[in-house]
Amino acid sequence: MTRLRAGVVGAGYVGLTTAVCLAEVDHHTVCVDVDAERVGRLNHGVALIDEPGLPLLLQQGLERETLRFTSDYADLADRDVVFVCVPTPSGSDGSADLSAVDAAVDRLASVLRPGAVLVVKSTVPVGTTRRIAERLRPAGIRVVSNPEFLREGHAIYDFRHPDRIVIGVDDDDAAEVVSDVYGAGALKLRMSPESAELAKYASNAFLAVKVSYTNSLARLCSRVGANIDDVTRCMGADVRIGQHFLRPGPGWGGSCLPKDTAALLHTGRLNDVELPEVESARFTNAAQPGRVAATLTRTMPTPLNQARVTALGLTFKAGTSDVRDSPALTICAELARTGAQITGYDPKLASIDHEQLRRSAIIAVDDPYLAAKEADAIVVLTEWPEFRELNWPLIAEHAPGAVVVDTRNLLDAGLLADAGLTYLGNGIPSGF
Ligand code: NAD
Ligand code: UGA
Repeated sequence: MTRLRAGVVGAGYVGLTTAVCLAEVDHHTVCVDVDAERVGRLNHGVALIDEPGLPLLLQQGLERETLRFTSDYADLADRDVVFVCVPTPSGSDGSADLSAVDAAVDRLASVLRPGAVLVVKSTVPVGTTRRIAERLRPAGIRVVSNPEFLREGHAIYDFRHPDRIVIGVDDDDAAEVVSDVYGAGALKLRMSPESAELAKYASNAFLAVKVSYTNSLARLCSRVGANIDDVTRCMGADVRIGQHFLRPGPGWGGSCLPKDTAALLHTGRLNDVELPEVESARFTNAAQPGRVAATLTRTMPTPLNQARVTALGLTFKAGTSDVRDSPALTICAELARTGAQITGYDPKLASIDHEQLRRSAIIAVDDPYLAAKEADAIVVLTEWPEFRELNWPLIAEHAPGAVVVDTRNLLDAGLLADAGLTYLGNGIPSGF
């Protein structure tokens, strides 16, 4: 592996992970972010996002001086390769908003030296990388699409052990530079920028389709007396189907699956191609909050608009403090709209953005037992393993006879029933 002078633009989940992992393998790395406060804290070794292994790598990079953070794009002037990792949120029509990417490219165009390679790691619609490449060609800057596939909560592990590294570029020399950054070992897939960009959206949308299909099957299971966990155990044993992404839940969320399915559909519309599988996955997902509300209405003696409901789990999945596009928050907001009073607990409450909780009308309580006090219903929304270990007989004393809706099938049904709670699992007989 050649030691490179690397640059990273954007110090969020993807950029910060990329920066610390490049520095770990001795690429001298400079990471630029427009948020000066963020830069200052990172230079003091404060990791800012909850990712296992990140604080140690950050500290090592700073100590060994293979890593530093800056707000000044001019510090990228001597870089061999620069990874663009800025956000691409949903615009109002579902398209990816490329304003941060365009702003970064504007700045890079004026500082990068001829021969440098700009790598687009942000998730961008088909055609973006070629458009940037055409713009930067006169300056002698090459541009490569290299989408990222890491999962939040496993970011460092996934960066070090990727299933595949996609290198989307026509120019062999630029492809070699990017390949060299990662070293040997991982499966590298070389393709056109267009294929690389579409492969990223196609992958995220396929994961969404798989989970929505599972959630639809779960509905059917509860109607016909089957058990979704057995059904998916059987499906997953078939290597052609695969065992992952077959867990029922409150719906898929997070900062990427929702926006990327919307952006893929937008690309389809621009090109007169319908993607009904993806449409329908989004439709199923949007119906999940209504499914929970209907279950509560059907099973609670108290009318929903007068009920006290406790949400256990607020993040979009376990292992992260991220609540962006969390199905838990969407469900709480929908229940609150009917008039229900919502208290919410999450093991990561201290790191969660409380403004987002307020917007979903959640009263945050930093103790699961207090959160459940006098609840008519308890809804398990995130699959935190510690929820299984809670003292459920004690919760039953705090909330006698409460209905427990377990969207993740996490809890011990027998134990809860013995404690006098009404347990409803997702896609199981006598569930919902
Ligand atoms: P993020 O919101 O966590 O971080 C983005 C960072 O970029 C912020 O620190 C912000 O201050 C900075 N920034 C914004 N505009 C900038 C600019 N013009 N110049 C410099 N810095 C700027 O975003 P993220 O979750 O890391 O996502 C980045 C991209 O990677 C998106 O396109 C996303 O779809 C994609 N992606 C994300 C994940 C994930 O798990 N979060 C995984 C794969 C791909
Ligand atoms: C997802 C992809 O898994 C990554 O490969 C991709 O890089 C990333 O998006 C991205 O582009 O940002 P992430 O957003 O971290 O990663 O979340 P996932 O682990 O994919 O989970 C997404 C949602 O699906 C969560 O709400 C989760 O609870 C839900 N899910 C997942 C289920 O309900 N059931 C499952 O079986 C799996």
